[in-house]
Amino acid sequence: MDLVKEIERLKKEKNAIILAHFYQEKEIQEIADYLGDSLKLAQIAMNTDADIIVFCGVHFMAETAKILNPEKKVLLPVLKAGCLMADMISSDELRNYKLQHPDTKIITYINSTASVKALSDCICTSTNALKIIHHYLNEGNQILYCPDQNLGNYAMKIGNTSFEVWNGCCPIHHYLDKQKVISEKQKHPHAQILAHPECQMEILELADYVGSTKQMLDYSIQSEADEFIICTEKGVLYAMEKANPDKKFYLASPTLSCAHMKFTTLKDVYECLSQEKNEIFVEEVVAFHAKKALDKMMELSK
Ligand code: 13P
Ligand code: SF4
Repeated sequence: MDLVKEIERLKKEKNAIILAHFYQEKEIQEIADYLGDSLKLAQIAMNTDADIIVFCGVHFMAETAKILNPEKKVLLPVLKAGCLMADMISSDELRNYKLQHPDTKIITYINSTASVKALSDCICTSTNALKIIHHYLNEGNQILYCPDQNLGNYAMKIGNTSFEVWNGCCPIHHYLDKQKVISEKQKHPHAQILAHPECQMEILELADYVGSTKQMLDYSIQSEADEFIICTEKGVLYAMEKANPDKKFYLASPTLSCAHMKFTTLKDVYECLSQEKNEIFVEEVVAFHAKKALDKMMELSK
């Protein structure tokens, strides 16, 4: 069976769209109606007229789509595709923190469960985190940023400020070996280093540009440079090479691969869409509170 053709046929028949994150395998990126970072995909999910959203990404992304557009059927091709960072804070832990710090505003990275989002004042992504964090600080608030310590530390450094950060991280970015980045730079001395803010400060300090996956892609298109060392998950290289056929991209380390993002195959997408299986549901009260925090992000990131 030609899976790509069948998926295309089912998409039309069922008025479905496929959203894919940049970390997905290239064959999944190719069948996507929209390819993007966490913010862009959430915005598309919120505004789509499609009846079915097939989310090729990880669980929190599909959950976010369901919260933002509850009338739609949201399907996740592989249910076990999760996010290691999202699992580093539980709603019980955050509830306990809030009891001890009742006046602190909670700013939560979108890489989190719906129940953690529901306990938050505002959500952010790597695209808008600096803007949102500094908005709350400028209002004179005490804040906790969770769960990513690295993006939190980066926001503190950029804003020359300080606030509380949770000690979670994305292990794929956090354990990127600085020596690997340095040796890639020695091999390609004219290459610019682009890094995701989930990397540790010692990596960000080496970078010519720090941004979300989409911001890195845009930077690679606009930059005069024609070689880049990429410090984020390897999937994004496919989109970068496609957008810049004359430029060269080097992955900083072969360890930059998120197994959960790589679970999804064309067969999974086909089966999920044909059987309308792996539907994502979010408990009503959780969805109500999580949506308030997501709406606040959308308002502040305009
Ligand atoms: P972006 O928001 O930059 O797409 O990042 C999502 C993610 O999971 C990074 O590890
Ligand atoms: Fe989560 Fe890291 Fe995978 Fe992104 S790369 S989905 S933060 S585990």
